Amino acid sequence: MTTGYDLVIRNADVVTASERFNCDIGVKDGVVVALARELGAGAREIDATGLLALPGGIDAHCHLDQPMPEGLKMADDFLSGTRAAVCGGTTTVIPFAAQEKGQSLKAAVADYHRRADGRAVTDYAFHLIVSDPTPEVLERELPELIAAGYTSFKIYMTYDDLKLSDREILEVMDVARRNQALVMVHAENSDCIAWLTDKLTEAGKHAPKYHALSRPAAVEREATHRAIAFSELVDVPILIVHVSGQDAIEQIEWAQRRGLHIYAETCPQYLYLTAEDLGHEDGYHGAKCVCSPPPRDSSSQKAVWSALKRGIFSVFSSDHAPFSYDDPQGKKPGGEEVSFEHIPNGIPGIETRLALLFDGVSHGKLSLHKFVELTSLNPAKLYGLYPRKGTIAVGSDADIVLWDPLKQVAIANDALHHNVDYTPYEGRTVHGWPKHCLSRGELLVENGRYLEPEAGRGQFLAAGKPQYLDL
Ligand code: URP
Ligand code: ZN
Ligand code: ZN
Repeated sequence: MTTGYDLVIRNADVVTASERFNCDIGVKDGVVVALARELGAGAREIDATGLLALPGGIDAHCHLDQPMPEGLKMADDFLSGTRAAVCGGTTTVIPFAAQEKGQSLKAAVADYHRRADGRAVTDYAFHLIVSDPTPEVLERELPELIAAGYTSFKIYMTYDDLKLSDREILEVMDVARRNQALVMVHAENSDCIAWLTDKLTEAGKHAPKYHALSRPAAVEREATHRAIAFSELVDVPILIVHVSGQDAIEQIEWAQRRGLHIYAETCPQYLYLTAEDLGHEDGYHGAKCVCSPPPRDSSSQKAVWSALKRGIFSVFSSDHAPFSYDDPQGKKPGGEEVSFEHIPNGIPGIETRLALLFDGVSHGKLSLHKFVELTSLNPAKLYGLYPRKGTIAVGSDADIVLWDPLKQVAIANDALHHNVDYTPYEGRTVHGWPKHCLSRGELLVENGRYLEPEAGRGQFLAAGKPQYLDL
């Protein structure tokens, strides 16, 4: 047995997606090397009595320092974004290297590495965003990037500067099939949104609340069904991101029952927000909750909880898209309150993701094992990071969050560590909060206090091929 541990976590109540046991955790060179009772001394020791030892969270959908159209800028870069992540118990992030139309995909990846290098405090992989699938991208760049560790890519069915035609979607899915990569789909019907937006603005409806009316559930349902049909045609698994409610869930469940490999992700906003949070006729504060797809209603929230519990969803991510509210480069472009279709989409949530889901564990809506599966194990498997990430096991990185299941926290933006000037969850009380957070055995958060680790200590993770889950 190894002796001379760098770190021993004593008396840990270890919870993985499938097991729960009490032991000490021995760490050497950033890796878990022993799980046993009464381990020998470590150079450093942490007493975990009364805490859960969970695999560090993996936030498999977050946007950090993503290049934006002229005039807009994300509030979080890799330093502030990963700082907030670790303070919330997340030790791996997977943001997006986004290709602009006309840009080489490899150039987008190189630019994104420059943004992350020297900034990230915890480990990261990249998804790609493919917005311009030229023959060069399809035949050369994508296969080479997949082989180099970028094994997942997001495509959009909406947003003028990002969306792909149906034919292009089929081409991209075909590359994924031939090279064993995972396509993530933003499923909303672009023409329906454009038509509804025109109707609303022609009628003088400009308040943030009309964002939700311009993208009703049918818009998401149709695109979800279309993406499923394409996946079936090409014969490749896909993952539908940020699923908002009942209508899209029905499509996904239908596909899964037919034996199709349709994975799905949801996010905290669809458990806790509704279209009401986008405000009323007067007032602009609802811009804070403008994201796409928009939050729906309380019955959709129940449908999302139920689908999480029943395994329809495989991944729970934040979709952290950090735009400050009182910011001319954020929710008020140019400093103005603008018509809903010009409000940058997305809400912050990288630090609150785990606590908001764990609150469901505290209230009996979800098992602890399901929590770990959704927030760590499954993203690690689907995005090619398992078993280095996603579990607590001998040989895995010592990415461990020591979680206080009894701590009650009233969420307050002042206490969060992102660079955004608000949280949509201000004042909401959650049961359970991370106490200590370790990345590769290094304590980054102690007793809830951020220890200012060295910027750039986070490592880039070249992802392996997706490991498909049973549905
Ligand atoms: O509104 C959202 N979700 N913004 C972030 C970008 C995306 O589509 O995920
Ligand atoms: Zn999206
Ligand atoms: Zn997103």
